[in-house]
Amino acid sequence: MAELLLGQTLSFNADPFIEGPAAARHDRRGGVLIEDGRIAAVGPADTLRTAHPQAQIRDYGDGLISAGFVDCHMHYPQTGIIASWGKRLVDWLESYTFPEEMRFDDARHARRIAALSLDLALANGTTTLCSYATSHPESVDAFFAEAEARGLRALAGKTCMDRNAPAALCDTPARAHDESQALIERWHGRGRLSYVITPRFAPTSTPAQLEALGALWKAHPDCPMQTHLSEQTDEVEWVAGLFPQARDYLDVYEGFGLIGPGAVFGHAIHLTPRERARLAESGAGVAHCPTSNSFIGSGLCDVDGLKRAGVPVGLATDTGGGSSFSMLRTMAAAYEIGQLRGTALHPAQLWWLATRGAAGVLGLEDRIGDLRPGCEADLVVLDLKATPAIAQRAARAEDFWEALFPTIMMGDDRCIREVRVAGRPVGGS
Ligand code: GUN
Ligand code: ZN
Repeated sequence: MAELLLGQTLSFNADPFIEGPAAARHDRRGGVLIEDGRIAAVGPADTLRTAHPQAQIRDYGDGLISAGFVDCHMHYPQTGIIASWGKRLVDWLESYTFPEEMRFDDARHARRIAALSLDLALANGTTTLCSYATSHPESVDAFFAEAEARGLRALAGKTCMDRNAPAALCDTPARAHDESQALIERWHGRGRLSYVITPRFAPTSTPAQLEALGALWKAHPDCPMQTHLSEQTDEVEWVAGLFPQARDYLDVYEGFGLIGPGAVFGHAIHLTPRERARLAESGAGVAHCPTSNSFIGSGLCDVDGLKRAGVPVGLATDTGGGSSFSMLRTMAAAYEIGQLRGTALHPAQLWWLATRGAAGVLGLEDRIGDLRPGCEADLVVLDLKATPAIAQRAARAEDFWEALFPTIMMGDDRCIREVRVAGRPVGGS
């Protein structure tokens, strides 16, 4: 049975970083036709009503229908340590992250936290996540089992480390390879799930482990590969000391075949001109993690510069280094970091980063991230007057972007009216 959702709609004809705000398409009275879990048509409400008289109508009034948010870099096992005080990256990993990740040798704990993090994401309108698990294969099983139970399109990988981490979290080059391969065979391409080859970052892998994972990626080029790149300046110096033969941080990954289309580099803040140019020509993408970059004190990522160089960029919460599960809060942080760099990102650009841009970084732009016929019907419906503070500002707006911007800057899960996964409502009013 076809269902026709009516409300305001927001979609993209092109990339607003290239074409400007006109790349986005807003319909004040629009519609999205859903058939068999996919978007069958998008257009003006009246046109769709006339063309599809049998469809069951769900009218959200002035609610905004958008593609669900796509969080292209997060750590589900860090859900319980979000908002942990007072540390920068390396100390934060040692004080909070590694002790928490050690608990994921317990499959029941992993299942409980996976369920919790997915439900928090859904409550915030996020319908696809790309997560780091821990080094325990059970932590990947837990995440995928809970994602599958919710019908979510989701991506994850075992976080490989064989040095500079507690022994209980370390594997070896061979174990990293073999356990990752077994997980690829178990989960990759099963339903809506994708396996992501995941070396945590250069400091926690020996050259032998990076080499093993480069070989694994070569054997499974349809899997994405994710890692961290140039998040803090002392981390960059640490990497230079660990890999003295490399030209720069990115060159470490290049040396082991860990760059190319399908690579997702988290943070990418302190880049040399060579690294930026190399990222662009390689086809790799960047996950911009603005709440994390301010919370852990990492720095101001040059999103505009990356985009102008031709690097695909998506938005990410990086929970629990990031301080919010909300992609609205994350868009607000991206705006503020842009301002600190002298570039005011337009609401259309912020929305792109959180939807179509993040889907593109994950190689999923044909399936999710936009309201387009053929895409999977992973949707969020927002109330653009969800709180008194937002409502009073939106009431003064003279155009759609001015009406949307207060929700971006002041919004959170209170703005989420309904979420749909493959067409099915999963919560909200
Ligand atoms: N670099 C290596 N591991 C991590 C992590 O878990 N979070 C963040 N923010 N950076 C990292
Ligand atoms: Zn991260």
